[in-house]
Amino acid sequence: LLPQELIRLKRDNQPLPAEEIKAFVQGIADDRISDAQIGAFTMAVFLNGMSREEVVALTTATRDSGHVMQWSDLNLPGPIVDKHSTGGVGDLVSLVLGPWVAACGAFVPMISGRGLGHTGGTLDKLESIPGYDPYPAPERFREVVKSTGVAIIGQTGDLAPADKRIYGVRDVTATVESIPLITASILGKKLASGLDALVMDVKVGSGAFMPTPEKSRELAKSIANVATQAGTPTTALLTDMSQPLAPCAGNAVEIVETLALLRGDRPNSRVMQVTRELAVEMLIAGRLAGSREEALTQLEKALTSGAAAEVFARMVHELGGPSDFMERSEHYLAKADVIKPVYAEQAGVVQCIDTRAVGMSVVELGGGRLRNDASVDHSVGFTDIVEIGESVDSQRPIATVHARSEAAAERAAEQLRAAFSIGEGTASADTLLQDTF
Ligand code: URA
Repeated sequence: LLPQELIRLKRDNQPLPAEEIKAFVQGIADDRISDAQIGAFTMAVFLNGMSREEVVALTTATRDSGHVMQWSDLNLPGPIVDKHSTGGVGDLVSLVLGPWVAACGAFVPMISGRGLGHTGGTLDKLESIPGYDPYPAPERFREVVKSTGVAIIGQTGDLAPADKRIYGVRDVTATVESIPLITASILGKKLASGLDALVMDVKVGSGAFMPTPEKSRELAKSIANVATQAGTPTTALLTDMSQPLAPCAGNAVEIVETLALLRGDRPNSRVMQVTRELAVEMLIAGRLAGSREEALTQLEKALTSGAAAEVFARMVHELGGPSDFMERSEHYLAKADVIKPVYAEQAGVVQCIDTRAVGMSVVELGGGRLRNDASVDHSVGFTDIVEIGESVDSQRPIATVHARSEAAAERAAEQLRAAFSIGEGTASADTLLQDTF
C-alpha cells in the first residue's frame, strides 16, 4: 500500500494489515514517509483507535525499526528482565530496583530517560555522580550488564528510531494522549533491549502522566497485554503517585536517598514498598523465584547482606564513577548554596498534595529542563517532604528546599505551600499498590 492508502484505511476505520503497518513504520525509520504523513496517521489513530492486533503490529514494527539487542551469545546465567515506569516525582525506584534484582541473579539492561514535564529522570539523577557515563559504547554496556548484573544507561539513536520521529510529530500535532500510540511508543523502545520479561509501573494520581485513574488503568492493561502478545511476558502494576513517592525530589538528593535505602534504611517506606512489589514480579517472571514468599526471602537477603548496595557501587564504578562513591558520596555530590525549611502558613494535617506542582517546582529550581537542550542543576530540589496524613506546624516544616539563591528558595517555598492542602481532620494516603494486570 502507498502510505496515503494506509492513512485512508485508518481514517475510514478499516482494519490495517500487520505487514502494511510494518512497512509504514520501516518507511518512517528510513525517512521515506514525511512528517505530514506521520501526523495524519497518528491523528487517524488518535480519533479511531486501534485493535489489539494493530497495536501489537505497531509495537513490534517500532521495536524492529532499529537495533534489537541480543544476549544469547553471552550465555548469561540468569534472565534478562527490566522495569519501566510512566514516571513520577520522587520516583527513584529504578535506582534501587535494578541493583536489588541483579543481586538476586537477574540481568538488567535498563535504558532510562531524562526528566519529562514534571517528572524526574533516572539519567539526570545518575549524572549527579561525577564521571558516570550514561552513553557507553554498546559492547561496554553488554560487558557491564554481564559483569555487574545491571547497567542503567540512556537511549542511543539506533534503538527504535521510528519512535523518535513519531513521538516528535505527536508532540506538535496534539496526538500524544492516545493509549495505542503510547503503548507502542513505550514498548517499541523497551522491547528493543531484548528482554525475557518486563514489569511496568503505571502511576495513578496527581503526579501521574495519565490524566485520570481510568486512563492509567487502561494503559496498564494495554501494555501488559500487548507486550505479552509481542513475545515478552509483562505484568503491569498500578501504583499511587498522589504524593511524591520518596520524601525527596531532585537529582543529587534522590541519589542520597537511594544510597540510604540500599543500605537497608527505611525498608518499609512507601518507595521501598513499591520497589519490593516490582522486584517480586521481576523475580517470578524471570523464574528466579517460584512464589511471592520465595522472592521476598531472596530480596530481604540481598538487602540486609549489603549485596544490593554492592551491585550499585560496582555499576557506578564500571560506568566511570568513583570507586569509593558509596563510602564518600557526600564528597562527590553537589550541594545547593541555600538549604532551608519551608513552613506551612497554618498548622494542621496534610490532606492532599498537588504532586505535579511539586515536580514543576523542582524543574523551576533548575533540577529539570524547560527546554530540552538545557542543562540540569543536580544540587537543587526538596528533601524531608511530609506525607499525606502527617502534621505540620511552626516547628515541623513541609519540606527542606535546596536552591541556588535565596530568591529561588523563596519562590519554591511559595509553590510548595500552594501545592500542599493543610486541614484540620485526619487524612490517609491512597493505597500504594492499586492493581495488577
Ligand atoms: N513515554 C513514551 O516513551 N512514549 C509516549 O508516548 C508517552 C510516554
